[in-house]
Amino acid sequence: MKVAIFNSKAYDREYLNRANDALKAKKHELCFYEVPLSINTTPLAKSCGAVCCFVNDQVDAQVIAALANEGVQLIALRCAGFNQVDITAAREHKLTVARVADYSPHAVAEHTLGLILMLNRNLHRAHNRIRENDYSLDGLLGFDLVNKTIGIIGTGKIGLVFANIMLGLACKIIAHDINPNAELVAKGVHYTNLETLYPSCDIISLHCPLTTETTHLINTKSIEQMKDGVMLINTGRGALIDTPAVIGALKSKKIGYLGLDVYEEESALFFENKSNQVLQDDIFARLLTFPNVVITGHQAFFTREALTAISTTTISNITHFESGEMDKMCLV
Ligand code: NAI
Repeated sequence: MKVAIFNSKAYDREYLNRANDALKAKKHELCFYEVPLSINTTPLAKSCGAVCCFVNDQVDAQVIAALANEGVQLIALRCAGFNQVDITAAREHKLTVARVADYSPHAVAEHTLGLILMLNRNLHRAHNRIRENDYSLDGLLGFDLVNKTIGIIGTGKIGLVFANIMLGLACKIIAHDINPNAELVAKGVHYTNLETLYPSCDIISLHCPLTTETTHLINTKSIEQMKDGVMLINTGRGALIDTPAVIGALKSKKIGYLGLDVYEEESALFFENKSNQVLQDDIFARLLTFPNVVITGHQAFFTREALTAISTTTISNITHFESGEMDKMCLV
């Protein structure tokens, strides 16, 4: 099948080509485009049976109608989240949507721990100091993680691995999920509602999907209920957090530490080198001024193991679609 791959980087080309080359039967014709999928770029999908997109490609109703018009039948997402796709519009236009539900929950969970340790022990500031020949410790005081209470919102694949990592550090876990995980319950994890979770936790980490219910889950009201000086970590999706509310709480010191791998307006920023440009996003610029904020550019998934699994599943979704084996696909 001919596939238009949008928003592609050198690493996407390397891993997707490798997965495609590994096919014993007929290989796909992969057409790589660096531009994101948008209403202006849908003509690139002409004569393609499938498009392959990533987290910040806006696959809205207008784009879906244009893709259907070009003859596209499959949207193969090379990511887990599918909040960027108008699923209702896809169904209306009879476009199949597939994703990679399970690639490496470890990649994201381990990155989450990385953000926690970086913030708690001020590793970002320590690294800069040493390079400046400054060996002072003032301002670098951290806290032990042992016995601290970690609140996990969403204990699916990533939340489960993250909970196990934190249990290994002898932390206490309080969780909230619409479907509690039996494995964690057996390990003594206490599931509760958000009103109980917020005031009980030293660190709160978000691992639920972005839905209408979870959009701006973290807002002025929910922050008010948290412990003073709480550490908030978001490796889920940017819009889980109302960023101006979080900035207010950082200024008042209600939030003591903030670790982000995702940002609500990240599509205008992330995955590109913009170092020669003037930053136009004033909210993001304000976040960068806090010494107790660490941000990574949606890289939690970015490990060799995860890229291998993402590429293999994406190619196999396309292969199964082409051969009509829908039951073997990871459908949305
Ligand atoms: P999953 O589907 O295995 O787990 C999500 C969990 O959230 C489920 O247990 C579900 O019951 C729960 N949930 C759903 N709605 C909820 C609500 N309203 N309140 C509380 N819990 C709720 O998904 P997985 O693989 O663990 O990924 C979680 C999220 O992480 C993805 O949706 C995606 O947005 C994000 N992600 C971020 C990556 C990154 O690189 N930063 C990479 C991969 C995923």
